[in-house]
Amino acid sequence: MKPELIQKLKTIRHDYSKHQLLEENVDPNPLKQFSVWLHEAFENGDEMANSFILSTVNKNNMPSSRVLLLRDVSHGGFTFFSNYASNKGKDMEQNKNVSMLFLWKELQRQVRIEGTVQFLPEAESAEYFKSRPRESQLAALASEQSIVILNRKVLEDRFYELTQLHENKAVPKPAHWGGYLLVPNKIEFWQGRESRLHDRLQFSLTANQDWKIERLSP
Ligand SMILES: Cc1cc2nc3c(=O)[nH]c(=O)nc-3n(C[C@H](O)[C@H](O)[C@H](O)COP(=O)(O)O)c2cc1C
Repeated sequence: MKPELIQKLKTIRHDYSKHQLLEENVDPNPLKQFSVWLHEAFENGDEMANSFILSTVNKNNMPSSRVLLLRDVSHGGFTFFSNYASNKGKDMEQNKNVSMLFLWKELQRQVRIEGTVQFLPEAESAEYFKSRPRESQLAALASEQSIVILNRKVLEDRFYELTQLHENKAVPKPAHWGGYLLVPNKIEFWQGRESRLHDRLQFSLTANQDWKIERLSP
């Protein structure tokens, strides 16, 4: 690393004093509170406010994380789409426990979500697939996500081939592509505060399916 960069890493500091998160203002339903913050992140100019980090664990207990896009908050959970045969798809097949992490830098906010995943009903995946731009549909068909390929040309040739094949025809949703619903059992809202005395409100699902709210030390 360049010395200036090393120096920057050691000395960069941020002030966290933009907002606060108090028990009296938080929505008792964490999915509603999440929607409020997501809306505020978009309103604040974050065009990628729906991007999040999904962490899964594979059969050797090795965790792995990647960025995905949130597409809905409904059915009591969080929806995203991917390739069921991808590395993350294989992880989730054998271990349904996953976590999602949202970072809204400008608002100095983080949301950590833990829960279990299930497949979205096939009809909903098909409906969403239909709404995607044609190029994205063809790309989903062309890409065997996560496998090693020889070079970029292999992918482009496959894309071209499929484009020709489906000319003037609807692109069918590949069987291995679809949605997941993460049903949360824990959601933590983090708001940066002055003097590093950050707000952390954790919602945990109780045995009666109520949400218990606790404040965590920062
Ligand atoms: C901003 C952004 C958005 C992404 N959105 C998705 C998505 O919604 N679904 C998806 O499968 N991959 C998405 N990706 C690609 C994933 O991060 C990842 O490369 C891919 O899903 C393969 O992951 P895996 O090999 O761990 O299964 C996105 C990447 C970025 C940077």
